[in-house]
Amino acid sequence: MRFSQVLTTAISMAVFGFLVGISFPVAITPKLQCGILPWSSSASSVAANSSSILDRFWAQFRNSSELSEQNVKVARKPEGAERLPAGIVVPESDLHLRRLWGSPTEDVQPRKYLLALAAGYTERANVNATVHKFSDNFDIVLFHYDGRTTEWDDEFRWSEEAVHVSAKKQTKWWFAKRFLHPSIVAPYEYVFLWDEDLGVDNFTAEAYVEIVRRHGLEISQPGLDAAVGPKTYDVSIKRDSGEIHKTDAGGPRCPDVHQMPCSGFVEVMAPVFSRDAWRCVWHMIQNDLVHGWGLDFNFWRCVNDPEEQIGVVDAQFVVHRGVPTLIAQGNGEKEGSSHKVRARQFEEMYAFNQRIAKADNATTRTLPDQQQQP
Ligand SMILES: *[C@@H]1O[C@H](CO)[C@@H](O)[C@H](O)[C@H]1NC(C)=O
Ligand SMILES: *[C@@H]1O[C@H](CO)[C@@H](O)[C@H](O)[C@H]1NC(C)=O
Ligand SMILES: *[C@@H]1O[C@H](CO)[C@@H](O)[C@H](O)[C@H]1NC(C)=O
Ligand SMILES: *[C@@H]1O[C@H](CO)[C@@H](O)[C@H](O)[C@H]1NC(C)=O
Ligand SMILES: *[C@@H]1O[C@H](CO)[C@@H](O)[C@H](O)[C@H]1NC(C)=O
Repeated sequence: MRFSQVLTTAISMAVFGFLVGISFPVAITPKLQCGILPWSSSASSVAANSSSILDRFWAQFRNSSELSEQNVKVARKPEGAERLPAGIVVPESDLHLRRLWGSPTEDVQPRKYLLALAAGYTERANVNATVHKFSDNFDIVLFHYDGRTTEWDDEFRWSEEAVHVSAKKQTKWWFAKRFLHPSIVAPYEYVFLWDEDLGVDNFTAEAYVEIVRRHGLEISQPGLDAAVGPKTYDVSIKRDSGEIHKTDAGGPRCPDVHQMPCSGFVEVMAPVFSRDAWRCVWHMIQNDLVHGWGLDFNFWRCVNDPEEQIGVVDAQFVVHRGVPTLIAQGNGEKEGSSHKVRARQFEEMYAFNQRIAKADNATTRTLPDQQQQP
């Protein structure tokens, strides 16, 4: 499919663009039609003519194995590193704790996956239960929004091996934008970016990763137990029919597989990203919009084939307990603070959707007139 080729190109461009310190558009889509997933409708027409300026520009990056040696050298020298010999530039890092003694060559290597949790001290019992569902193959970072960090070490052994980042009254997405830069988390094959209030009785992280890898899911979430907790979308409810599902098509609110959020959709509470998908999603998180509302409806931009590569894992499921811990932080001194937080969430969502629409418009406009629907 031509459109997916262009998306592939766009994503490798985003990666390349990041490395050389230049920003490129992450995806091209035409005007969004309300509720219809752009990749399924007239989107392919945008990518139709391979002789377009954009395509000529992108042609050299189309196939990453065709990157010339010179390009690779450029890519290894990010902005700011021009004065350094390429061989000394370290383009990737990790969130693994090192010891102060011993030979660095004998240090324990970074773990294979990363679990990042936004956490408040009052939810520590559930966070402890969650962490215990993640094996030693995970590095763990806790984002503390309540300023209480050292207490964790007193109660939990695992806490001593976790990274603790503290900033008062900040959201998971605020932390993620600042502390999960793609080049910092590059060693991790999957990044779990979770809320603290998920019930994990029926969840094991290793088994989850195995399923996600086997099904090629670039962005996923565990199914939600329908019997407990608040439910927002039908598609993320756990099914009993199989290991995973990718669509709610045929459900009462989903007549069409291509409609949002019937496919290509996971929620923001417990997303799991592949390394490549995260590289893209990180770019989409806005610096000023801290609640991340609206991101879920745009995750699809970060994979080639959203209907195939985004899905819900039924075999490993969680309970959405819906503890309103962060919203209650709000502006505690004032009346109606959680109401004010909610109002901001909606304002942010509106702003984000506007930015996306505007950016889509701008990208569409840069395409030559010859790109008409065939
Ligand atoms: C793209 O446009 C050029 C010039 O308008 C035309 O010659 C060519 O056949 C078009 N290619 C496709 C695949 O439509
Ligand atoms: C990329 O290039 C290699 C070598 O030229 C080729 O074998 C491969 O099929 C190409 N892949 C795509 C997706 O075009
Ligand atoms: C943490 O969770 C584990 C596993 O559920 C449990 O065995 C342990 O007692 C918990 N620790 C504390 C301090 O509650
Ligand atoms: C989920 O976990 C609970 C508590 O351990 C258990 O009682 C229940 O049978 C599990 N459900 C499934 C479907 O495995
Ligand atoms: C995008 O373009 C359409 C059609 O030109 C216009 O109606 C709409 O207001 C534009 N949206 C934004 C956010 O600029």
